[in-house]
Amino acid sequence: MKSQIALTAVGLVGGAAAAGSEPLLPLPPMGFNNWARFMTNITEGIFVDAAEALVKTGLRDVGYNRLNLDDAWSTMARAANGSMVWDTKKFPKGLPWLTSYMKSKGFIPGIYTDAGTLSCGGYPGALDHEEIDWKDFKAWGFEYLKMDGCNLPDGGEPVYREVYARWGKLIAEDPEAMVFSDSAPAYFEGQKNLTDWYTIMGWAQKMGHLARHSADIQTYPKGKSWPSMMYNYDQHVRLARYQKVGFFNDPDFLNVDHPSYTLDEKKSHFALWCSFSAPLLLSTDLTAITKEEVEYLSNKDLIAINQDKLIQQATLVSRDSNWDVLSKDVENGDRIVTILNKGASAGSLTVSWERAGLSTKALRRGKDVTVKDLWTGKTTKVDAKSGGITASNVPSHGTAVFRIAKSVSPVTPTGLIFNTLSMKCLTDDKSGKVSFKACDGSDGQTWQVRRDGHINSILRPDECIVDAEGKILSRHSGCSTDGWSYAVSGNLINGNSANCLTEAADGTATATKCGYELNEQVVALPIGVTVNEK
Ligand SMILES: *[C@@H]1O[C@H](CO)[C@@H](O)[C@H](O)[C@H]1NC(C)=O
Ligand SMILES: *[C@@H]1O[C@H](CO)[C@@H](O)[C@H](O)[C@H]1NC(C)=O
Ligand SMILES: *[C@@H]1O[C@H](CO)[C@@H](O)[C@H](O)[C@H]1NC(C)=O
Repeated sequence: MKSQIALTAVGLVGGAAAAGSEPLLPLPPMGFNNWARFMTNITEGIFVDAAEALVKTGLRDVGYNRLNLDDAWSTMARAANGSMVWDTKKFPKGLPWLTSYMKSKGFIPGIYTDAGTLSCGGYPGALDHEEIDWKDFKAWGFEYLKMDGCNLPDGGEPVYREVYARWGKLIAEDPEAMVFSDSAPAYFEGQKNLTDWYTIMGWAQKMGHLARHSADIQTYPKGKSWPSMMYNYDQHVRLARYQKVGFFNDPDFLNVDHPSYTLDEKKSHFALWCSFSAPLLLSTDLTAITKEEVEYLSNKDLIAINQDKLIQQATLVSRDSNWDVLSKDVENGDRIVTILNKGASAGSLTVSWERAGLSTKALRRGKDVTVKDLWTGKTTKVDAKSGGITASNVPSHGTAVFRIAKSVSPVTPTGLIFNTLSMKCLTDDKSGKVSFKACDGSDGQTWQVRRDGHINSILRPDECIVDAEGKILSRHSGCSTDGWSYAVSGNLINGNSANCLTEAADGTATATKCGYELNEQVVALPIGVTVNEK
């Protein structure tokens, strides 16, 4: 069964939770994991220190309330009775002691294992020990389980599906026991054929609460972390359609103290993850965290958009070689606009009201638009006639985030429609021809996905895309004839022909018979629309 995003629907349908009940994980998790900072040097002391530091710095009280163990906590062999055994050199007081210590300090404990024969670090994996491990982890006091995907019997999607389904069964029998973080998608990212990646994201969304979907973030202290973070960011923007209440796309840790980052880069990392409503799991030495790190990680305005009940993942409004712009809605009706300077020097960018998803017509009638800069906390009244929001003097690799107060105008999801393999943008041209081209930030690539299913670029606001016997054209008549719907499969489907938007080999935009999550037919688009299970 495919899930559909109905362009007209209102209200998000709960994720892994039963209908009507509160999902187990309504908001993205915040906290600490040892991996990117300490790797296999995991110890009891790291977690005791982390707990104390989170309390002392005030980070626990702004929401960082989870302490998650990663790989290498166990001995190299199971006990005679089949249970895993914690390494008493690393955890002298034992894991049950550690979880009760964590709970006494106001934290929720999490643990790691691997679905295969061995973990990525070579420790015992859970394959064929699912029930005993599930029972032990619960008995030891854990409430969050990260399930890695190294060393499965073979690398094919069917085997991953079968093995992870064993966990799905245990979760279904005891749905309140454990938040389940699924790393299976990460083993299928970045391939030439993304069908399996999409398939796994689809089943991860049905059985668990989080999907670690791409590469591990750069570990301490080697390498360059900006490209690593941007790589995961770039995978993440392809997957917005999967995120829903109770289920989060996870682009990995905030590796705050990686020495290769500038402060602006770290702040971008945080601001982007907040805009995505992504997990905020710090992987850093908290005993040495600096004042400026604590300060930005405690930014309440940014945490509020991360922990917003709608949990929308911001989607791309525009992209060129220097700038990415993203937007999303939050629960009270405000609009968030995030502006990332990817370039090598500081610069300024104005994002028009229209690109932000607001109606210029409505704004023309209005007065001022109330805009808050979430980094400075300053609220300003911007003249509606000024054309838009300007991010001034954004440093190289810096990110500005603005919150536009509600009720100035209705919102139309507006932004890029792009193929999530080729990353080419659907492009309108003056003649009404539509094709996939390199993203360039132009009006011809900025699409309004209207609530009634009609879709137009802001280059040709009175023309909407149609399926003209297999060719995609933008035409005036299209704004009444051709409605489109978007599915969690990533297909954009024409309501008349039931064909899917397709990127032909030469870049032409066509409409062809819908296949199963095909490279040429999976697209991302501005979500503001809501996800319905069908
Ligand atoms: C892990 O511990 C070893 C031995 O003490 C040390 O050499 C290494 O630097 C540590 N690695 C990290 C990432 O802390
Ligand atoms: C299994 O063996 C380990 C190690 O001897 C022991 O600590 C544990 O309590 C045993 N588990 C059960 C369920 O008996
Ligand atoms: C892509 O992968 C899917 C799933 O494994 C497979 O069914 C399909 O044939 C592949 N497509 C191509 C073009 O190889």
